[in-house]
Parts: sequence; C-alpha cells; structure tokens
Amino acid sequence: MATTISFFVALFLSVLGLTRSDPTAAAIPDGCSGRRIHVRRLPPRFNLDLLATCADYPLLEDLCPYLANHGLGRPTHNRSRSWFRTDPLMLELVFHRRVLELPCLTPDPDLADAVFLPYYAGLDALRYLYGRDVNSSADHGLDLYRFLRANDPGIWERRSGHDHFLVMARPAWDFSQPLSNDPPIWGTSFLELPEFYNVTALTLEARAWPWQEQAIPYPTSFHPPDSPLLESWMARVRRSRRTALMLFAGGGGISAAPNIRRSIRLECENGTEAPPSGSGYYAKTCDFVDCSNGICEHNPIKYMRPMLKAAFCLQPPGDTPTRRSTFDSLLAGCIPVFFEDQSARSQYQWHMPEEEFDEFSVTIPKEEVVYKGLKIVDVLMGIPIERVKRMREKVVEMIPRIIYRKHGGSPGFRSTIDAFDVAVEGTLKRIKARLEEDSV
Ligand SMILES: *[C@@H]1O[C@H](CO)[C@@H](O)[C@H](O)[C@H]1NC(C)=O
Ligand SMILES: *[C@@H]1O[C@H](CO)[C@@H](O)[C@H](O)[C@H]1NC(C)=O
Ligand SMILES: *[C@@H]1O[C@H](CO)[C@@H](O)[C@H](O)[C@H]1NC(C)=O
Ligand SMILES: *[C@@H]1O[C@H](CO)[C@@H](O)[C@H](O)[C@H]1NC(C)=O
Repeated sequence: MATTISFFVALFLSVLGLTRSDPTAAAIPDGCSGRRIHVRRLPPRFNLDLLATCADYPLLEDLCPYLANHGLGRPTHNRSRSWFRTDPLMLELVFHRRVLELPCLTPDPDLADAVFLPYYAGLDALRYLYGRDVNSSADHGLDLYRFLRANDPGIWERRSGHDHFLVMARPAWDFSQPLSNDPPIWGTSFLELPEFYNVTALTLEARAWPWQEQAIPYPTSFHPPDSPLLESWMARVRRSRRTALMLFAGGGGISAAPNIRRSIRLECENGTEAPPSGSGYYAKTCDFVDCSNGICEHNPIKYMRPMLKAAFCLQPPGDTPTRRSTFDSLLAGCIPVFFEDQSARSQYQWHMPEEEFDEFSVTIPKEEVVYKGLKIVDVLMGIPIERVKRMREKVVEMIPRIIYRKHGGSPGFRSTIDAFDVAVEGTLKRIKARLEEDSV
C-alpha cells in the first residue's frame, strides 16, 4: 500500500514539474518520451512460485534468508539500515521491485519503448544446474517462449521480441551451453536458443563475444535508503586512512602451476612489511583477506573494513573473469587493479565507461607478472601519490552509480542515478539502436 502511494506521489511530482514550466511547456518533450516500459504479466511459475523453491537444493546453501527485503537479504545487524546480507542471485528480485517504481511504466504495450519480462531466470535455472532437470538444460527458456508466443502474441510480434529485456543474475557462461542432446558439463542453453536472440539479457558477466547480453554490476551489500546515509558513507570512504598499499580478498592461489593468483599470493606472503622503495607512506605492502570456502560471501564486515584501509585492491580472474569484489572495492574507495580486460573493461561499459577506465583503475597484463617477473608492488609504488589520490576521488564519485540503492525512498533520493537506473537507460538506448538498425 505504502509503495503504491509513494509511486503515485513520484508520478504526481514529475507531472507537476513538467506542467509548471510556463509558456514553453508544450515544446518541452514529455519526460517519459522514449522511456516507457511495459511490464509483461507472467504466470507465477515464472517468478513468485520460484521463491518457494529456495530450500530445494541440497547442494546449495539455503537461499531463503536472501529473499528478504525484496532480494536485498536481511540487514547485517538489527540497527543497520544500509547494509544487508545480499546474495547476487537475488538481483532478479531487486530489479523487479525497482522496475515497479519507475515513473514511466505503461499498462499499454503499444505505447511501450521496452517490455520488461519479470522472469527469475537464474532462480529457475537452479533446477537445471543442481536439480532434477539437469539432463534437459537445453530446454531452459522454452516454456517462457511458448507462453510469450501463445498469450497476447501481439506484444512479441510487434517488434519480434527486439524490445524485450530481462535480468539473469548469473554469469552468461551459466546460460550459454551449446544446444545438443548430450547432458552438459555445466549450465543451461537459454542464451543459445535462437528464440531469444532478439531479447536483451542483463547478466552479471557477459561472454567474450556477447550477442544478446550486457553485463551489469554485481550487487554489493550496501543499499542506502536515503541520501544522508549514502553521503555519510562516501565521506567515511574519503576520510579513511589507507595503511596498506594493496589488498587481495579471495581464495585460491595455492596451486604450484604459474598463474596470477599464485603470483599474488607470493607477493603478499611477506606483505606485513612496508613497501621496499616506500617513503613510509604505507605501513605494509599487502593485506590478504582469506575468503576461501565462501566465508566472505554474505559477510561484508569481513572484507569492507580491510578494503577501507588499502589503496589498491587486486582483482585477478577467479572461476570466471570478473568478481563481485570489484564492486565491493569501488564501494570502499579502494582502486581496483585488473590483470585482463575481460575482468571489467570489456564487460561493464555502461557503468564503467571505457574512456574513463584508466582514471579509476590500474591494468597490469597478467603475463607480465606471471612470466616476466614484473612485481605488482613496483608498478603500484611507481604511481605518484597525487595521482593515486585523484584516482581514489574518481572511484568515490562512481559509488552512487555502481550501487543498487534500497527500493522505496523519497522522490528526491529516487532522482539520484544508481546502478539500476544506468542499466535501464542503457537498455532503452540499446533497444532503440537495435530497432533503428532493423528498420534500415
Ligand atoms: C534483533 O531483533 C530481534 C527482533 O526484534 C531480537 O529478537 C534480537 O534479540 C535482536 N538482536 C540483537 C543482537 O539485538
Ligand atoms: C542424467 O543423465 C545421467 C547420464 O545419462 C544419469 O546418470 C543421471 O541419473 C541423470 N540425472 C537425472 C537427474 O535424471
Ligand atoms: C528476431 O528478429 C528477426 C528480425 O530482426 C526476425 O526475423 C526473427 O523472427 C525474430 N526472432 C523471433 C524468435 O521472433
Ligand atoms: C618472503 O620472505 C622469505 C624470508 O625472508 C624469502 O625467503 C622469500 O623469498 C620471500 N618471498 C617473496 C615472494 O619475496
């Protein structure tokens, strides 16, 4: 009820803002022009019913606690208003809730510039990844497609699905197994189905040569409900004393074969001393937060405090090229250090513009470190301290755009642009470009 009311208040205020602007009002384009979104009605088996399966997978941790607060999870502690135990998989719920708050929704699909599918694709994928449907994972998505073509088929047919979009809160790799009759080693084939080639999928990581997907940020644990809480966090990040040159939060690196994580472990092994060529600016070279066995996953306190105290956060590829920790480190004002372009530069163009990339991050090709003996510490110590400070300021300025703020909130706070808003704008632009291409 409260949500409905605040939604209408927001709508009302935006209408008010437009009509007030005196004689020229008629010439000013409607604030919703080009941005109208229709939310497709789907039967509950595509979304709400899937929530009830949260405890069905013995191979997984019980996911039920992470459903709380529309997918933000439970607060980290009782008095916390901004920090939650967020599981990235729940971005599908978070996104759905936020879409319902958009001021430019339309019940009429004919007026829509884009059609949102509130399908919890990643949750539905669990039965193929870990459950009874493991041998039919090439079918993932076909039920949805049949529904879209059979019910109100005009909505799809109007633009052959080119204006449809959805969120799939896992790496695209999990949804892009080749279609074949053999049971896959891992993953479903949703993104390989020609039926969905025209649809835009927002994933946590894209493939190296993506067609229909675009990567959007992993959710962190920080979801402020208002501007003062966001601003006080940013102030704390700016103030924080950085006593370690660099930090690595993660597991692995224990294999004997040369790889970047092993190189990092070796450099960090003796990290309790100040950097060799240091002017005494940092008390230690490297801080290491051991996140083996998933112990950090829903426990932001474990890594946020150390990240606040480090100048640079190392982001080597893990099981996949990117990592959630990239966004945690940005949130902590810790400058990310990447070792390959697939880790972020070629992934998150909407949220981390390519042309600004070197202003807020460092890239050290992993081959240089692993095979040519380049020391990460030497590269980082070679960056003048004034430049480090400028990079950090850039990182802090990015915080509002890479976090998902809490749903609800005042109309004023809603007008600040967050990761969700950037994703929606990007999607609308992409769909527009696709449709223009198509009509040429
Ligand atoms: C948190 O709140 C719950 C319910 O109000 C209460 O039962 C619990 O004792 C509180 N925990 C702490 C640590 O205060
Ligand atoms: C999947 O197929 C494999 C090999 O044919 C079989 O051993 C396994 O029991 C099947 N799993 C399920 C859940 O049907
Ligand atoms: C995708 O779009 C093309 C035209 O761009 C169309 O020919 C094709 O039928 C569409 N696919 C589906 C499944 O609707
Ligand atoms: C760490 O310190 C030990 C003892 O001083 C030394 O033998 C070792 O080479 C150092 N490791 C690295 C990677 O520098």
